[in-house]
Amino acid sequence: MRPLLPFLDPPASGSPCASGRAALTCRMRCGDACAHEAPNTSDNAYFGDVAAGMSRRGLLRAGAVVGVGAAAAGLSVGTTTPAAATPLVAARGKSSSRPAGGHGKGLDFVPVEPNTLDQVTVPPGYAQAVVMAWGDPLFTGAPAFDVDRQSAAAQRRQFGFNNDFLGLLPLGRGQHLMVVNHEYTTEQLMHRGYDAANPTREQVEIGWAAHGLSVVVVEEERGTGMLKPVVGHRLNRRLHTHSEFALAGPVAGHPLVRTTADPRGRTVLGTLNNCGGGLTPWGTWLTAEENVNQYFANGASVTDPTTLARLKRYGAAGGATERRWERFDDRFDLAKEPNEINRFGWVVEVDPYDPTSTPKKRTALGRFKHEAAEPRITDDGRVAMYMGDDERFDYLYKFVSDGRVARGADAAARRRNRDLLDSGTLYVARFLGSSSQADIDGTGALPSDGRFDGVGVWVPLVSGTTSYVKGMTAQEVLLFTRHAADVAGATKMDRPEDVQPSPRTGKVYVALTNNANRGAAGQALADEANPRHANKHGHVLELTEHGDDAAATSFTWNLLLVCGDPADPSTYWGGFDPRRVSPISCPDNLAFDPQGNLWISTDGNALGSHDGLFAVPLDGQRRGQVKQFLTVPVGAETCGPWIDDERVMVCVQHPGEKDGATVDRPASRWPDGPGSVPRPAVVAAWRSRR
Ligand code: FEO
Ligand code: CA
Ligand code: CA
Ligand code: CA
Repeated sequence: MRPLLPFLDPPASGSPCASGRAALTCRMRCGDACAHEAPNTSDNAYFGDVAAGMSRRGLLRAGAVVGVGAAAAGLSVGTTTPAAATPLVAARGKSSSRPAGGHGKGLDFVPVEPNTLDQVTVPPGYAQAVVMAWGDPLFTGAPAFDVDRQSAAAQRRQFGFNNDFLGLLPLGRGQHLMVVNHEYTTEQLMHRGYDAANPTREQVEIGWAAHGLSVVVVEEERGTGMLKPVVGHRLNRRLHTHSEFALAGPVAGHPLVRTTADPRGRTVLGTLNNCGGGLTPWGTWLTAEENVNQYFANGASVTDPTTLARLKRYGAAGGATERRWERFDDRFDLAKEPNEINRFGWVVEVDPYDPTSTPKKRTALGRFKHEAAEPRITDDGRVAMYMGDDERFDYLYKFVSDGRVARGADAAARRRNRDLLDSGTLYVARFLGSSSQADIDGTGALPSDGRFDGVGVWVPLVSGTTSYVKGMTAQEVLLFTRHAADVAGATKMDRPEDVQPSPRTGKVYVALTNNANRGAAGQALADEANPRHANKHGHVLELTEHGDDAAATSFTWNLLLVCGDPADPSTYWGGFDPRRVSPISCPDNLAFDPQGNLWISTDGNALGSHDGLFAVPLDGQRRGQVKQFLTVPVGAETCGPWIDDERVMVCVQHPGEKDGATVDRPASRWPDGPGSVPRPAVVAAWRSRR
């Protein structure tokens, strides 16, 4: 095994989130979110406390038999009862009539051993290759990557930095539209001799251009699972910090989104910190703006107490920003443009089939640190979007559209579904354990009934122009969703990341990455849905909507995985034998393969080896048998997994991002080898031996 380069800090150096991340990653990606006090300082009632007086068992039974509505259970503390809560729909035997899948079919690979190699490692019998890397041209005439000749003009025509979400949409004839998020930039690894205190205008403009989104047509290579970019294809597109985006839905035009440059509050330049995402059934791409607070300077100088409270809850009450963008554009200075930040933190919908279309920020889905947005169709044909707010002690959300989805994924269907995500109901989740709180001791020991499980409710926050939160208008609920959810008594979770409904069973999977502060002084204690104090390794929750309907307002849940070293008694593997699983730490992005197995990528492996991609069957005797498929190079995290019948794809994000690393002292030579600098890249793997 090749050791880490000697001048670099050892793993877990200085990371404030207790994961294996470098401190540099925490600073550049999340604005050091975990080094600060968790911004959720609300003392909203824990569901179990609210339910005091009702027996937990009774509530659980009620949830299982008739469904627990927020109002029905008497749990609408702080919210007004909606006039027309979504009705609970009776089960129609869907689960039994639908093939369950997920038994482990297709997962016959030999698991990759945990390692610290500076490479992408896949199982024996598989091949892998880079599809596209930072700086590769999208357009005819765009220059090839050259770290010493980079310019903003070139970067606007090249693949961006730090790829995260990845999706493929069909084009036919062996071609696909590959859609990719570029979450953030790490200037130390992009510019030789970078002076973080004094970036040049050109360096800042390269950063603006390297953020954002890419749409790239890729072509299948005959006989392999490899995909080759089609440079210059008319559908190729780069969207960056100066591309035009429209605000759509209830918040468009609101006074709090109007700025000097956009007095109508309807057109935003750029999308920022796009982390995970999702694809819609009608052929569009959803991309989630996450840690946007870090781009806005001087929040601490704001004096209006309401504005300051809002900035604090969203983590934007600081001074200068890490990248100093405020020196080159006033809109990143809250003292000068206090509303610009309100135009970020949304889920954005892009029509990748139309390169002239203006992407829309869908304000009806609320504003928070959006990790992803993944859809499921309701029984009556509407769409539900599941979403996590990735911060310690923040919440799990669901949006349900008012309108029904027009079938198809062609241009006509995209046109008919054009406004679907602009009206609906936004809910936040409350969880109640089946065991008594005294039975949850924070060690991860299973409660006496042998499972971490319970019921939950989706508490409505806002529906169209109707606010269910006292003291907030509907538009304020959407703009300051975290505040609304605090009032509604949402359950504080351990960093909800990707949320993925199974296309086969409809069960919904939630990755909860970690939360070193759970159980710390003054912080929320362990509960049954977040059962470990100082949760370093995270867990994966499985949620079943009442009646198996994505529109339901109640659900049951259980923990599928409590992650970590299988030898650690605080871990749980869906009932599977821990001696026969791969260790897994810090689950982040989720995806399903066509057989219905769940795939999990990790961010911040706190077990001392590199991040990776894992697969786990959900049904049958192999339920919970986590197997590692892939590991990524030094300093990298694994993102955006995509699995189809021909290939497994990942985004290798921030390779070489170790403390002390620079362009001149790179911590990784992946993917280009000796003498090169590390480059974030999309990788495809496929079976080379049949
Ligand atoms: Fe960008 Fe929640 O990770
Ligand atoms: Ca993520
Ligand atoms: Ca996903
Ligand atoms: Ca993450």
